[in-house]
Amino acid sequence: MNILLIGAGGREHALAWKMRQSPLCGTLFAAPGNAGICAEAECVDLDIDDFAAVIDFCKRNDVKLVVVGPEAPLVAGMADALGEAGIAVFGPSQAAARLEGSKSFTKDICRRYDIPTAEYAVFEDEATALAHLRKVGAPIVVKADGLAAGKGVVVADDMETAEAAIRDIFGGAFGAAGAKVVLEEKMEGEEASFFALCDGVNVLPLTGAQDHKRAYDGDEGPNTGGMGAYTPAPVLDEPQQALVMERIIRPTVRAMAEMGHPYSGVLYAGLMMTEEGPKLVEYNVRFGDPECQPLMMRLRTDLVELMQATVERDLAGGAADWSRQAALTVVMAAKGYPGAYEKGSVISGVEQAEEDPRVKVFHAGTALNGDGALIAAGGRVLNITALGEDIADAQQRAYAAVEKIDWPEGFCRTDIGWRALQRLRQDGA
Ligand code: AMP
Ligand code: GLY
Repeated sequence: MNILLIGAGGREHALAWKMRQSPLCGTLFAAPGNAGICAEAECVDLDIDDFAAVIDFCKRNDVKLVVVGPEAPLVAGMADALGEAGIAVFGPSQAAARLEGSKSFTKDICRRYDIPTAEYAVFEDEATALAHLRKVGAPIVVKADGLAAGKGVVVADDMETAEAAIRDIFGGAFGAAGAKVVLEEKMEGEEASFFALCDGVNVLPLTGAQDHKRAYDGDEGPNTGGMGAYTPAPVLDEPQQALVMERIIRPTVRAMAEMGHPYSGVLYAGLMMTEEGPKLVEYNVRFGDPECQPLMMRLRTDLVELMQATVERDLAGGAADWSRQAALTVVMAAKGYPGAYEKGSVISGVEQAEEDPRVKVFHAGTALNGDGALIAAGGRVLNITALGEDIADAQQRAYAAVEKIDWPEGFCRTDIGWRALQRLRQDGA
């Protein structure tokens, strides 16, 4: 079966690498891809916002399955357009992608189906939102309703910060994404991610992971797309995963089906592990990046088979098999990220880093220059990923591989996995 993969990040490189291991995978195309993906797949110059062009490409190249990595094409309706043309898409419809595209949509489902999450209220004008804020006080979390590239959330510990955030959003800082503001109770606890495959009706649990969102060591500095991740997540053990399935994932999938928008694809629950149990922070309608990279290292089941079962509504009774080992990813980013950074610096040492058979370097923002040398072409650039006996061993292998990368213009955090190691030490003590 020929497959087209949409995306250009480390997540998509990991998906391409894993799909290529499947005997079901015929020619794998990628649009737009990156220097690493192009080693696994045939990268094609295709305008992915032009659904008619994507459909035409699929028909001409006998593509039977399109796998969408990022959320934006799904929120824009790619699965609907391709589905109408008879092409199967791994990823939800536009209506179902509202689980990520609209925070108020998701919160309203939580309320109706009694899914544990932070208390909230939704506002369509500044004066009413400010009046509510004065009534409930800080700390409080202020969110733009729509997609804001991860920047539309302010956890405000005082009134001034909360007021400024509300004014910013209604002032147009996030365009249409800020037409509504959600004010939420601040939850306390450790964050974790849980992933499940859904075929509209049936749900197949995958597993848990944790990422590090802040740019610098000690979880300090600005928020980023994610500077590292690992799986399994010690805070999300088997009993906690079962709770997440029963209280959060299954009711959501039931809600979507009952509303006439059955959810198909991977559902990523961002969770807060509170004293009262796991609560939903947000949904994403795609794999996490970088969480996907260590997940793919541990996945033993054929990924194409799982994706096919998802699009064919055949997940009932299925299960995914995971290596008992741990996997950990260290993100190498261009100096300056998540602020301004330079592109074009040359990177070497990737092959040396991969001399350890349990290390894989997934590319994010990379390209080849005119001489065929690997260069940085984005903010997050490389994902050094290692399997190990446990988190500590995976961490040690990943950082040993980082040492072999020669890229003076890049940086990484030196403490990916610290929270897991601290918890494991406490539990062992
Ligand atoms: P979101 O885009 O909704 O995932 O929010 C981004 C980040 O803000 C989350 O990963 C949390 O760290 C934090 N956050 C969001 N909502 C809450 C909440 N209700 N309580 C505490 N932290 C939150
Ligand atoms: N790593 C966070 C995300 O993919 O949204």
